[in-house]
Amino acid sequence: MSAFLSIDNVSRLFGPNLTTGEKIAAKLGAKVETRSVRAVSDVSLTVARGETLGLVGESGCGKSTLGRLIAGILPPTAGTVMIDGAPVMENGAKVTTRVQTVFQDPFASLDPRMKVGDTVSEGPIAHGLTNKVKTKAYVAEWFERVGLDPVWVDRYPHQFSGGQRQRIAIARALAMQPDVLICDEPVASLDVSIQAQIINLFLELTRDLGLTTIFISHDLSVVQHVSDRVAVMYLGRIVELGPVAEVFGKPAHPYTDALFGSVPKLVLDADELVHFDTIEGEVPSPLSPPSGCYYHPRCPLATQACSDQQPLMQPVTERREVACHHFEEQIAKGLDKAV
Ligand SMILES: Nc1ncnc2c1ncn2[C@@H]1O[C@H](COP(=O)(O)OP(=O)(O)O)[C@@H](O)[C@H]1O
Ligand code: SF4
Ligand SMILES: [Mg+2]
Repeated sequence: MSAFLSIDNVSRLFGPNLTTGEKIAAKLGAKVETRSVRAVSDVSLTVARGETLGLVGESGCGKSTLGRLIAGILPPTAGTVMIDGAPVMENGAKVTTRVQTVFQDPFASLDPRMKVGDTVSEGPIAHGLTNKVKTKAYVAEWFERVGLDPVWVDRYPHQFSGGQRQRIAIARALAMQPDVLICDEPVASLDVSIQAQIINLFLELTRDLGLTTIFISHDLSVVQHVSDRVAVMYLGRIVELGPVAEVFGKPAHPYTDALFGSVPKLVLDADELVHFDTIEGEVPSPLSPPSGCYYHPRCPLATQACSDQQPLMQPVTERREVACHHFEEQIAKGLDKAV
């Protein structure tokens, strides 16, 4: 599989951003938080042209930060992101329009004082993708492609429903004619009845335009529906990566297994009590992650080697990788369960 989007050893730390007063207080021995959050830690991935990669993991595991690093919205602390051999950022600034983003909350991401037609045309005009003479037709074309009536171009965001606003946000991103689209929880803020329509619009547009897509969602069923491959993140690291059917069908990492098992479902036990399955234990603080495998304090398969040594990504099958010392045991456990 040839790499179109390459993410090489990308990390992102968020410093403590201390004020001068706090720095002085820390020097004098006062209790001030001086540690950095390692939001994304040494992530390497490649995505083929036209492929959709789903990114899943619990809240706070670094999905949005990784999405912003790939989109060139945030500079990495280390590592590079390349599209078709060209860097997305240089000297801390985005140098390409080939990657665009659709965010979770279209109300927050659209300028409330700007007519929606201008929101869609602003970027393409600035980058010479259309000109003042052709703009009206250009915007109308994108409105139609996302299922909006072009007569609405002079309206403002508040005059639209949540689903329509997300269609405008999609039109704004696609009117920049990107090759890569980052979707960060794009349906999470929408009514369930609207989610399927927007998901289907994504599927249709990414296929028709041949887009390479990173689809971030905490909703595993959505990711399963839209993605070719899936990457599972835990505390800033990718711990499992592979084709959706393989990873969802037979998790090779105990965290993936727990994540899929934790999808809320009602369980009636012998006493007729209703409870939800959840992942054991708390997510450790990214300020002080555990030694070795970050998952070891919560993992049912953990051994001494797990707290001593960080497991590196290694192949399970031709297209599948996992970072776990005992992945064979996990796969065997899954097979036992299936019998
Ligand atoms: N701008 C920021 N400054 C400081 N810490 C941040 C910032 N953005 C994210 N973080 C921290 O980075 C970690 C990953 O966050 P995020 O990427 O938003 O996770 P997710 O999208 O998976 O919920 C969290 O611990 C979060 O608190
Ligand atoms: S390396 Fe050890 S602790 Fe980490 S997931 Fe695998 S078995 Fe569990
Ligand atoms: Mg997020």
